[in-house]
Amino acid sequence: MRTITVFKGDGIGPEITDAVLKILDAAGAPLEYEIFRVGAAEYEEHGALIPEAAFASFERNKILLKSPITTPIGKGFRSLNVTLREKYDLYANIRPAKSNSAVATPFPNVDIVTFRENTEDLYVGVEQQIDPDTVHATKIITRKASTRIITDAFEYARAQGRKKVTCVHKANILKQSDGLFLSIFQEIAARYPDIEAEDKIVDNVCMQLVMRPQQFDILVMPNLYGDIVSDLTSGLIGGLGLLPSSNLGKDYAMFEAVHGSAPDIAGKNIANPTALLWSACMMLEHLGELEIARRIRQAVDKVLEEGSCKTPDIGGSATTMEYCEAIIARL
Ligand code: NAI
Repeated sequence: MRTITVFKGDGIGPEITDAVLKILDAAGAPLEYEIFRVGAAEYEEHGALIPEAAFASFERNKILLKSPITTPIGKGFRSLNVTLREKYDLYANIRPAKSNSAVATPFPNVDIVTFRENTEDLYVGVEQQIDPDTVHATKIITRKASTRIITDAFEYARAQGRKKVTCVHKANILKQSDGLFLSIFQEIAARYPDIEAEDKIVDNVCMQLVMRPQQFDILVMPNLYGDIVSDLTSGLIGGLGLLPSSNLGKDYAMFEAVHGSAPDIAGKNIANPTALLWSACMMLEHLGELEIARRIRQAVDKVLEEGSCKTPDIGGSATTMEYCEAIIARL
């Protein structure tokens, strides 16, 4: 048995976490859970967004399955997600977007993995009010952070038998910061002659993604572009309900859906738990539980193929729990 830490966040977070833990148990995942409530409600009741005991649990267990947390816009506390990524140096945010033939979209056969640098760029959140009408924001790009995410992208390509890595940047305008990222990409690419390497400007990539997404294999980019472009890739495969992610560092690993707390559908029992479930499968694979992850993925595929039990975001009318029970029945 392996003990992992689970954070139940805000909005749809608790509903999808309950569904996912039920499926993991039904699949016989050899896991025990230390479950914590984090976010706005926890703050109001106990004065901390993440309780000390929750940090301590993650530091002990090293593995975190996390559901989304609401972040106030334009004011209030700093994103807890950004805080966790920084505090535990979870530098590699990996977001695989793969078409499922049972989910209808205008974009068949998409299979793109985004490697997003997760610790710097504009996400350092350093802003300075110069005068009442002027604000500056600091963008940080370092050799250390760029080298490790780009190297991870090429290593992943090699290990998974992938063909191509595309560096996404805006070095035509940000000649020094994105220019550094691009030049490091070129240095590292030269060490992987078996993998095709190319670079493209981020605006062009967005256009190409909706015209001919099949040309892309692995994308690697700084933090902010990675956030935006990976949401775009979720749209290609049927929406945010289907995009999982891992956040990996040297010592810690966190797995979460790419989507947020979806306040518009919270509490209605219609959220799609697949993105969090597939994140849990990435966690199982990380822990070496390949067979259990495979069985869960297969059960999800079967339910989607049969077509009668889908959540509303992908064209069905099933509730979160009906979908969850259908997966369990096929395990
Ligand atoms: P969102 O991802 O929560 O929702 C965008 C749209 O996608 C909504 O229409 C929502 O209903 C739909 N959606 C998202 N996940 C879904 C699911 N599993 N099933 C069905 N439909 C789903 O983005 P939004 O509304 O911009 O952000 C809401 C809050 O979440 C904000 O406070 C934001 O800061 C936070 N957020 C947190 C993240 C995290 O904790 N990792 C990531 C992104 C946003």
